[in-house]
Amino acid sequence: MTDTAVKSLAQMAEEVLNCADGRAKTALSHKHAATWFAARRDGREIPIGTANPPMHPARPQTPELLDPRHVPKRKPGTPQGRIAMIHAVAHIELNAVDLHWDIIARFPDVKFPIGYYDDWVKAANEESKHFNLLCDCLEAHGSHYGAMPAHAGMWRGAQDTATDLMGRLAVVPMVLEARGLDVTPNMIALFDKAGDTQTVEALKVIYGEEVGHVAYGSKWFHFLCGRHDLDPKDTFHGLVRKYFHSTLKPPFNEEKRAEAGLPPDFYWPLTE
Ligand SMILES: [Fe+2]
Ligand SMILES: [Fe+2]
Repeated sequence: MTDTAVKSLAQMAEEVLNCADGRAKTALSHKHAATWFAARRDGREIPIGTANPPMHPARPQTPELLDPRHVPKRKPGTPQGRIAMIHAVAHIELNAVDLHWDIIARFPDVKFPIGYYDDWVKAANEESKHFNLLCDCLEAHGSHYGAMPAHAGMWRGAQDTATDLMGRLAVVPMVLEARGLDVTPNMIALFDKAGDTQTVEALKVIYGEEVGHVAYGSKWFHFLCGRHDLDPKDTFHGLVRKYFHSTLKPPFNEEKRAEAGLPPDFYWPLTE
């Protein structure tokens, strides 16, 4: 393929997934998102296409990925503990970049209105910004992404749902990303108390935009339930119990979850 040939969206997704370096991955993600939205604005069609997304996205040499039980515990009361916390969130954001491109390329047989692709390209673009904002925070503290070990289990939800798109929507945006809405306000308060305004500003951007990602998950989950004449709540409960290997942990951010289209009867029954 020459440089001027139009890449399909699935090929763009595959390129991002196969790029190992974090800053390079997010630069590619921004570039492809810009290409997609410029085409949409000008009424040019980029084919969705098909690709061969890897089962595990490429990752940089560091951080070392450890079983969650072996990742050192963070003490948020210390500067080092707060740096470790920023590092952990940066790791989540890098995985989120890949998760959003993966959901575009992984399920080519399921046809969607074009808004589905707009939503996930926008989400992937935002996650790329989130990762870079947190890398900037780490660097401002004399650290960097890769300076300490990170959680190896982050891709598990993607792997378990690699052949089940409704399971993917239930577990990734509607459970894992919704969890982010629950915990981020306390994290913002903690960095605010420590006087770390750069990290506070980064987390506020993340908090504002993550509501949208949960909402996209809920929207397209309900869309598929409608297409297949399934009860959304019962289907959600069945899929989360099948693919998510834990119960959900209150307290929940009911306000932001409601804003994202997640009513209480979706998540409360999964706390048992
Ligand atoms: Fe994010
Ligand atoms: Fe997200």
